[in-house]
Amino acid sequence: MGPSYAAAVLVILLKIRCFTGEHLPALRQTHGGINCCGDLGCFDTDGAFEDILKRPINVLPSCETRLKLSLKTQDNVAKADILDPYNSASINASNFRADREGTKILIHGYLDTENVRWMSLMEPKLLLHGDFNVIRVDWSAGIEVNYFQAAANTRIVGAVVARLISTLHSKFGQDLSTVHIIGHSLGAHVAGYAGERMKIGRITGLDPAGLYFKDMPPSVRLDPSDADLVDTVVTDGRDLLQLGYGSMQPMGHYNFFPNGGQGQPGCGKSLWSSLMTLDISGTSSDALGCSHFRAPILYADTVANPTCTFTAVQCENYEAFRRGQCFSCDNDQCQVFGLDVDVPVSLANQQRSYYFVTGSSTPFCELLYRVTIRQAYKLQSTEKGIMKIQLHGKSKSSSWIEYGSGSSEIVPGSTSTYVVSVPQSFGPVEAVHLTWEYDYSLLHPFAWLSSHTLHLEPRLELTLLQHPPVAMTTDTTEIGEKMTAIFKLNR
Ligand SMILES: *[C@@H]1O[C@H](CO)[C@@H](O)[C@H](O)[C@H]1NC(C)=O
Repeated sequence: MGPSYAAAVLVILLKIRCFTGEHLPALRQTHGGINCCGDLGCFDTDGAFEDILKRPINVLPSCETRLKLSLKTQDNVAKADILDPYNSASINASNFRADREGTKILIHGYLDTENVRWMSLMEPKLLLHGDFNVIRVDWSAGIEVNYFQAAANTRIVGAVVARLISTLHSKFGQDLSTVHIIGHSLGAHVAGYAGERMKIGRITGLDPAGLYFKDMPPSVRLDPSDADLVDTVVTDGRDLLQLGYGSMQPMGHYNFFPNGGQGQPGCGKSLWSSLMTLDISGTSSDALGCSHFRAPILYADTVANPTCTFTAVQCENYEAFRRGQCFSCDNDQCQVFGLDVDVPVSLANQQRSYYFVTGSSTPFCELLYRVTIRQAYKLQSTEKGIMKIQLHGKSKSSSWIEYGSGSSEIVPGSTSTYVVSVPQSFGPVEAVHLTWEYDYSLLHPFAWLSSHTLHLEPRLELTLLQHPPVAMTTDTTEIGEKMTAIFKLNR
């Protein structure tokens, strides 16, 4: 753990392109010391914040961190009012009103500003969705090029946001239970620090930053005690050596892992794989953060397209979910992902993980189908390869979808189950095509000499989530390599 973590930090240093020698003196100010920032209180790097392995360069937050708070409402969609948490007159003169449906506070992450694309996308959609006070927090003035200082400064940003909420509550009567902070990356931890000071209704963590926060004590990171409801979505939780920006650690009550949470469809290769193949040319910074920024984009999609819903299923892990082991909404096992989640009376400290599959562009929502295929029981050898299926609707058909995760053994008499998805526009599925490829990469030197055939049961089962299964049948029960069996709906 230690050496790989140090290597990861080194990689992160390389990743920060603007990282230059001129910032090194600041980094030398490591352990010990305390910074007192007026009414925000004092901050040190001891206790919970001290961890030589997870936070090797541990700097004090800077009291100089400055925030810009811009408010928009349905009464001023075009021009934002600037709020000053220390000056109630600035709030009184603005369009802020405590009797609106609620207050949404948006917080960006590392190296971004309030003009980051997801905020510009989400703000107008929130204003269309409901009568909210929508406040953008811009803390770019507090973001130094080095990640360590930015990570430390999130504590100050959180304290100022808490100060704002406190003013809105005590001077203007804002109901704390309708305050909702939506933070991306480091902004998710800012939300956690704010929620720790002012107990609010909800925090949404959009791919909360992993580096310096994962596996740290709850007081250092976003955790379920920071709001009545903490929901998170993880889209780039790959480990640090693979340069994931997020973290697979569930930090909320409801934790959503679209596509498993370790990279998203339509996002190119990671910087790491580019480095390994020495091909940096095609790696723009957009491609680098593609999976990391998918979290706010998916979330904005749930606000913009309310008919496009993402039903997520609680499961032990993504593999088990894809293998169809949790394909049911009985016993409160499903949760709709997005702005309008269902909240039970009390969540206490429960933590649940939910899984779903998305497309690669908007509208991202897809319908989940579980497909069950049986191999005939015959005296024959086990084959090894990849099965692929294609779903056919009335007028559209899907691309070939890998059935299962990679090459696997296909055993006579066995039953296999896998969850696939198609766009919601697809309509009812009327046929399923099945093909397969033998895996020649194996150590079977003479494999290519013999022919390979799958013997199928003539029937497969197709289940749309929350619907009864339907049976489909085929006449083709023996399929050689790259041949296709066509299963049709029984009429
Ligand atoms: C807001 O302005 C009104 C009218 O000037 C004043 O009566 C009220 O006290 C002010 N409220 C706050 C909290 O400053």
